[in-house]
Amino acid sequence: MRIAMIGTGYVGLVSGACFSEFGVHVTCVDKDAGKIERLKRGEIPIYEPGLDDLVARNVAAGRLSFTLDLKEAMQGVDAVFIAVGTPSRRGDGHADLSYVYGAAEEIAASLDHYTVVVTKSTVPVGTGREVADIIRRVRPDADFDVASNPEFLREGSAIGDFMRPDRVVIGATSDRAGEVMRRLYRPLYLIETPIVITSLETAELTKYAANTFLAAKITFINEIADLCEKVGANVHDVARGIGLDGRIGKKFLHPGPGYGGSCFPKDTLALVRTAQQVGSPLRIIETVVDINDKRKKQMAERIIAACGGSVAGKTVAVLGVAFKPNTDDMRDSPSLDIVPALIEAGATVRAFDPAAMHEAAKLLPGVEWAKDAYGTLEGADCVAILTEWNEFRALDLRRVKALLKAPVMVDLRNIYNPDDMAQAGFVYSSIGRPL
Ligand code: UGA
Repeated sequence: MRIAMIGTGYVGLVSGACFSEFGVHVTCVDKDAGKIERLKRGEIPIYEPGLDDLVARNVAAGRLSFTLDLKEAMQGVDAVFIAVGTPSRRGDGHADLSYVYGAAEEIAASLDHYTVVVTKSTVPVGTGREVADIIRRVRPDADFDVASNPEFLREGSAIGDFMRPDRVVIGATSDRAGEVMRRLYRPLYLIETPIVITSLETAELTKYAANTFLAAKITFINEIADLCEKVGANVHDVARGIGLDGRIGKKFLHPGPGYGGSCFPKDTLALVRTAQQVGSPLRIIETVVDINDKRKKQMAERIIAACGGSVAGKTVAVLGVAFKPNTDDMRDSPSLDIVPALIEAGATVRAFDPAAMHEAAKLLPGVEWAKDAYGTLEGADCVAILTEWNEFRALDLRRVKALLKAPVMVDLRNIYNPDDMAQAGFVYSSIGRPL
């Protein structure tokens, strides 16, 4: 089989490379000439474990290629995937669909045989129909169907998520399109992956419902964590106690500084706007958005409190600035609220992140960047863990204590044990656990 993938961002590049690993011939297309050149040279523009090897292997096998030319990429394809960005529109929080619709117009100009046009980007309900209308307006004669195939992969474990998904969701407008999509995912039948075939609108909404549900689950446990602190309970035991109930499930009950990243903040807001627009408001998600925004801001106050109520003239060592480990993505990272608030309160912030410092340096002016975790600590009044990178989990605590001016640690990801930290002589605070 043969497909074209429009957009070599996170979703497009990972999906394209993974489909090629399934044996499909994939041509990835992007308008960014520099990016295509780099990809042709084997340079991967994002940090994602395993992606460089996967791309190199499939390029060498002749199944994966990169081009600026959509017409060339669409020759003989069974399907063309739209995997361009759908950022939050400035001002109103709706998803900005200009790149999706732009891609639809360009696809229309290149259609010359039956092709399934698939939206892989996260797009609001109704976008697939609009894509079909755009193509029909430009090319009333074109032979095509549209389909929606939302992606559920997580940054940092994207390849595993694509290769071994819990399910695949396909919204198809005809049996013929559904059949093409099923054939593309044939390798997943071997591992008995459930394939949910549905209407376009249902598939589009399923993606938003999944992300907003997970965001709500995280927000729920974050609020329970705050309550645990007040009543002397342990949030991890509560999470385990409820998560073992199959109706609730164990995953996504880890408390933290609030969810960030390129998806949950954008998708919660977009679904809230869609729901308001059609007169069926999602009050629960409106509240989730509000709580999470406030939570990220409150985290700086925790660090200030741990430093005795003021950070003026003090140095705070920050470990991790990416929104989660195994990524260099800074989008909506809690650090973007926390670090500026500390600087505003008079602190010097010295930080380290294993992958995101290059990106972070553009977004967090005034931060001193260290070469490694220990490099942040010398003479600091406190250390704050903002991202749970593995390399922060097993720090040499004696060395940490010796480098710090005061043995104060604020662990916003709960990667250390309060008893161990007390024994090691730290004044330790974390989320939702008794001291
Ligand atoms: C999320 C979804 O998990 C994917 O299924 C989806 O495909 C993706 O969005 C998308 O729409 O493209 P991602 O944003 O990469 O994936 O990251 P997650 O691992 O879901 O983490 C999101 C945020 O929630 C992070 O800030 C993380 O620290 C936070 N989180 C996650 C918690 O605070 N607690 C948890 O228990 C889990």
